[in-house]
Amino acid sequence: MTNDFITRLPKAELHLHIEGSLEPELMFALAARNKVAIPFASVEDVRAAYSFTNLQTFLDIYYAGAAVLKTEEDFRDLAVAYFDRVAQDGVVHAEIFFDPQTHTHRGIPFDVVANGLFAGIEEAKAKHGMSVGLIMSFLRHLSEEDAFETFAQAEPWLDRLIGVGLDSSEMGNPPSKFARVFAAAGDAGLMLCAHAGEEGPAEYVHEALDLLHVDRIDHGNRALEDPALVARLARDAMTLTVCPLSNVALRNVDTLENHPIDRMLDLGLRATIHSDDPAYFGGYIGENYRQTAAARNLSREQVVTLARNSFLGSFLDDETLAGHLATLDAYVKAN
Ligand code: HPA
Ligand code: ZN
Repeated sequence: MTNDFITRLPKAELHLHIEGSLEPELMFALAARNKVAIPFASVEDVRAAYSFTNLQTFLDIYYAGAAVLKTEEDFRDLAVAYFDRVAQDGVVHAEIFFDPQTHTHRGIPFDVVANGLFAGIEEAKAKHGMSVGLIMSFLRHLSEEDAFETFAQAEPWLDRLIGVGLDSSEMGNPPSKFARVFAAAGDAGLMLCAHAGEEGPAEYVHEALDLLHVDRIDHGNRALEDPALVARLARDAMTLTVCPLSNVALRNVDTLENHPIDRMLDLGLRATIHSDDPAYFGGYIGENYRQTAAARNLSREQVVTLARNSFLGSFLDDETLAGHLATLDAYVKAN
């Protein structure tokens, strides 16, 4: 199996924070355009600061970096740069997260963020023929009340969003804190996902299932510590959007050589590979696939299963899903 086979393999991105695709070069360009001061002298200086010891040390830098995003055009440019990049990685469908509270708390109106991102999404659809869904994530270190306020701001946009998510500092902010706002989002017809078991315990994965009624789990690594939970996730074909380079960068897994992705597949889990915050963790989705395949010596069949799982785990309708699976099968047959 060549790297080229992996790169061109049709795949879906299901776990990507658009703010985490802000490359240092664009950060500098936007800082200059918006006259925002950033505490770095050069692009190299920024990259040198990207050495993390856990989730929080990353989040502190990630939220600081987002301060350069001010106008609709900034959010559009950010999104376009991301889609242009992953069009080269075989991505034919993307369901991406954005964190409205990161921006509204700095005085940027929700509508500015949403207008800009949707402008970028429309451009990507036209340019790359990609399908794209946008998922609004609540910041779990903030209150339930703040999440409800954000949900109210999103009201005019709800028919254009595909789902809600839950991210930021996991420890001490269990899914139970957001049960009511997730119930409201579900009632509004949105799909539901939550980061769980990235740093937090398997118990948080149970809560995401039982209290938030999620359709998808983001990360989910620590579910492996609970055999009954693993059996349940496998039985229910619950998708786990796993992010190997993120796991190593945030030290949730010591090395890529020890990453449990193939163990997850062997246990019957519907695991997939994604990029999380590619500008910060050293690679986009193609890089995650290629490096993990090499480090774990994945078979061609395992890599194809991961790509198939990305479509199965998406929020696409049955007919579009069948089309993507047929394209994937045709690619595998021809290559
Ligand atoms: N975990 C939690 N919150 C996040 C992440 C992550 O990996 N990336 C951006 N927000
Ligand atoms: Zn994430």
